[in-house]
Amino acid sequence: METLTTYLLPLLILPISIFLFLQIHQKTTKKQETNLPGSSGWPFIGENMDFAMLGAQTYVSQRMKKYSQDVFQTSLLGEKMAVFCGAHGHKFLFTNETKLLTSWWPESMKKALLFPEFVNNPVKEVTSLQRNFIRDILKPEALKRYISEMDCMTRSHLENDWVPYREVSIFPLSKKYTFALACKLFMSIEDEKHVEKLADHFTLITNGMFSMPINFPGTAYNGAIKGGKLVRDELMNIIVERKKKIMKNEDINLKGDLLSQMLVMKDENGEFTTDMEISNSIIGLLVASYETTSSMVTFVLKYLAEIPEVYEKVLKEQMSIVESKAPGELLSWEDIEKMKYSWNMAREALRLIPPAQGSFREVITDFTYAGYTIPKGWKTFWMVHTTHKNPKYFPDPERFDPSRFEGSGPAPYTFVPFGGGPRMCPGKEYARLEVLVFMHNVVTRFRLEKLMPNEKIIFHSSPTPSNGLPVRLIPHNESVRLANTLSM
Ligand code: HEM
Repeated sequence: METLTTYLLPLLILPISIFLFLQIHQKTTKKQETNLPGSSGWPFIGENMDFAMLGAQTYVSQRMKKYSQDVFQTSLLGEKMAVFCGAHGHKFLFTNETKLLTSWWPESMKKALLFPEFVNNPVKEVTSLQRNFIRDILKPEALKRYISEMDCMTRSHLENDWVPYREVSIFPLSKKYTFALACKLFMSIEDEKHVEKLADHFTLITNGMFSMPINFPGTAYNGAIKGGKLVRDELMNIIVERKKKIMKNEDINLKGDLLSQMLVMKDENGEFTTDMEISNSIIGLLVASYETTSSMVTFVLKYLAEIPEVYEKVLKEQMSIVESKAPGELLSWEDIEKMKYSWNMAREALRLIPPAQGSFREVITDFTYAGYTIPKGWKTFWMVHTTHKNPKYFPDPERFDPSRFEGSGPAPYTFVPFGGGPRMCPGKEYARLEVLVFMHNVVTRFRLEKLMPNEKIIFHSSPTPSNGLPVRLIPHNESVRLANTLSM
C-alpha cells in the first residue's frame, strides 16, 4: 500500500501535473539556464521513481557514467538539483558553505517536523544560538560524562531484551535501544510506555519525511505529517511540565539533561529561547540520531556475525579492556580511547553501508563548477556513494578491511558518512560512543550467528535489513563448552 500510494499516485495525477509543470517551467527556465549534463526526468515526479527503484548507489553511479564524473543535473523531491560527485565535489560543497550555498531541507521534511509558522522561515528553524549550543553539548568533552550511563543502559537492555532469548532480531532492538538512550539523555524520560509511544510517532516521521509530498490518507507523507503533529504536541507537554519543575526547584536530578539546559539558555539580548524553538531542536536531534545510529549499530553487528577474523580481533581488544577493570566496573573515556580496532571496524561498516545517503544545500548565487553553470535557487546534493565505493579512493572497494583506517586513513573528502565542513554532523562523537559501548557489551557476552545468510538491505530513511537481521545468540560460556565437546 505504501509503495502504491507513494510511487503510483503521482502517475494518476499526471495530466494535472504536466499542465502545472509547463506553467511553472515556462516562468522559470529563463532565469535558470544551465549547461549541466543530465536529465530532469518526468514532469512533477522528476527522477524520484528511478532513485527509489534503483537505490541511491546504482542511481548515482549510472548517471556519473552517462553524464559526468564531476556534477550532473536531476530533479528530486520537486526541485532542480545539481549532484556533486567525487572527493572534489564534496570538498567544493563543504568549503563553500555560506559563500555560495546555504542549508536546505526538503519541504516534505520541514512540514513533517516543524511547527507550521517555521516552515517558510529558514532563519528561525534552528537559531544559530541553538546550533552552537547543540555543537557544544555534543563535543567529546561534554559527552564523556554520559559514557557510564550509556554502559549502564546497554547492560540492562541486553539483560532484558537479549539474554532471555536464543534468537533476536537486531534492527528493531537497536532502534528500541537508540531511542530510549536519546530520550533519557536529552529529556530524562525513562518510562518505557512513554518512550514507546514517542518512538511510534517518530517512526511515522522517518518513514515518510523523504517521500513524495502527496498528502492523501494512507501515503507515507501523510503519516509523517500526522506523526510530526503528535510528536510536537507531546514535546510541548514535556516542556510545560519541565518548566513547572524548574519553577518549583524540583529539577535537581534533571539539570544535566539537554532540555533543562536549553530552557535556561539566553541569547545575547538576554531573551530565553521559545518553547517552539526548543521543541524544533529536540525533534531535529531525535530524528537525526534515531534511524542513523540504529542502522550503524545493526550493520556493525552484521559484519561481526559474518566475518570471524574481524570478530576475533574486536573480541581480543574488548576483552583486554574487561581484564583491566574491576568486575562490574563501568566503561570510562580511557576505555573508549583504547577501542582503536573496534572503531576502525565500525568505520569500515559506515563506508560500506552508510546510514545517511548525503545532504542538500541551496545555491545563493550563480557560480561555475567544472565548467558548468549552477544557477541561483537550484539545490545541490552530495552523496556518500560517489566516493565510498570508488576504487580510485578505496581499492577493492567491496572488501571489508578495517586496516584502511590505520595510519593517516583515507584521503580527505573521500570518507564522508557524517558530511564535512561547518555543517558536518554534530552527533558524530555521540554515535561513536554509542556504537563502541554497544559493541563492547555484545561482543564480550555473545558470538552471533546470522539466521538469514542472504538477507536483503532495503531503504527507508536509512538502510535497513529486510527482515530485521535475525541472529542466534551464542553466550561465551556456551561456545567454550561447545568447543570442549568438539575437541573430545
Ligand atoms: C551514524 C550516525 C549518524 C550519521 C551517519 C549522521 C550523518 C549526518 C549527515 C550526513 C549530516 C549532514 C551533514 C551535511 O549537511 O553536510 C548530519 C547532520 C546532522 N546530524 Fe547527524 N548523523 C548521525 C548521528 C547523529 C546523532 C547521534 C545526532 C545527535 C545526537 C545527529 C545530529 C545531527 C544534526 C543536528 C545535524 C544537522 C547539522 C547542521 O545542519 O548544522 N546526528 N548527520
